[in-house]
Amino acid sequence: MSTQTSTDAGTAAPKVVLQIDNLESYYGPIMAIRGVSLKVHEGQIVTVLGANGAGKTTLLKTVSGVMDPEKGTVNMMGADIQTMEADAIVRRGIVHVPEGREIFPLMTVAENIAMGAFTRNDKGAIAADEEMVYSYFPILKERRSQRAGTLSGGQQQMLAIGRGLMAQPKLMLLDEPSLGLSPLLTQEIFEIIVRLNKEQKVTMMLVEQNAKVALDAADYGYVMELGRIVMNDRAEVLAASKDIQEFYLGVSQDENQRGQRRWKQRKTWR
Ligand SMILES: Nc1ncnc2c1ncn2[C@@H]1O[C@H](COP(=O)(O)OP(=O)(O)O)[C@@H](O)[C@H]1O
Ligand SMILES: [Mg+2]
Repeated sequence: MSTQTSTDAGTAAPKVVLQIDNLESYYGPIMAIRGVSLKVHEGQIVTVLGANGAGKTTLLKTVSGVMDPEKGTVNMMGADIQTMEADAIVRRGIVHVPEGREIFPLMTVAENIAMGAFTRNDKGAIAADEEMVYSYFPILKERRSQRAGTLSGGQQQMLAIGRGLMAQPKLMLLDEPSLGLSPLLTQEIFEIIVRLNKEQKVTMMLVEQNAKVALDAADYGYVMELGRIVMNDRAEVLAASKDIQEFYLGVSQDENQRGQRRWKQRKTWR
């Protein structure tokens, strides 16, 4: 065995897939994200938590090229992508599963899934990937000739994820997959997200208001408030943090009645 091989064997730190530095994005004069910096390592599920209006969707739109930032950089595996068009970013392996799913309601399930492969022309591999998607979401196979608009909310979320997988993403951006779903369906979707991460090696950046399911699934988390990152740590550390438990997980903390903490006094989370 050469020295080279033994140096490489299993000891290398995970690669950074996505690195965001000092990002600022605006809607007209309104600054929606304010100097956001974060990293997503290969193979991980990274969650960005935040209340409604925190800037989560804006962050994902800026990464996927739907919006251009005013300042800052989005770097994917060594290349700055913040000025690239959305379709070029898909070709580089970043797929955005948007808030509210945005499936094509009048097209069938199968047609929606096929649309996800718009950047590809490797027909055989596309067919194999369709089968892969249906293996994760058997209900979509049963419903494949049905118009997508007639699916339930949970099935539409599955379809949006399935369509995203068809682009062979290296990094999937998921915008509130739990939105509008029952706890049971949310659980089901998150189990599949974790399986896709492990089995299909899709790195995930997942924004959520539902801190419980997101932190259960994630390796690492960031908390956004009013366009800024206010906290970041390993998911299990965040899940155990009193601030997170109080504001996101609905755990009441008796001791808080006496010793008020800083965040309580400037509470802006819901
Ligand atoms: N199309 C828009 N025009 C103007 N302001 C917007 C628009 N979309 C979002 N915003 C504002 O930007 C901020 C961040 O919104 P958003 O990224 O959607 O937050 P989140 O996804 O965390 O709920 C909010 O103050 C919101 O009101
Ligand atoms: Mg949003």
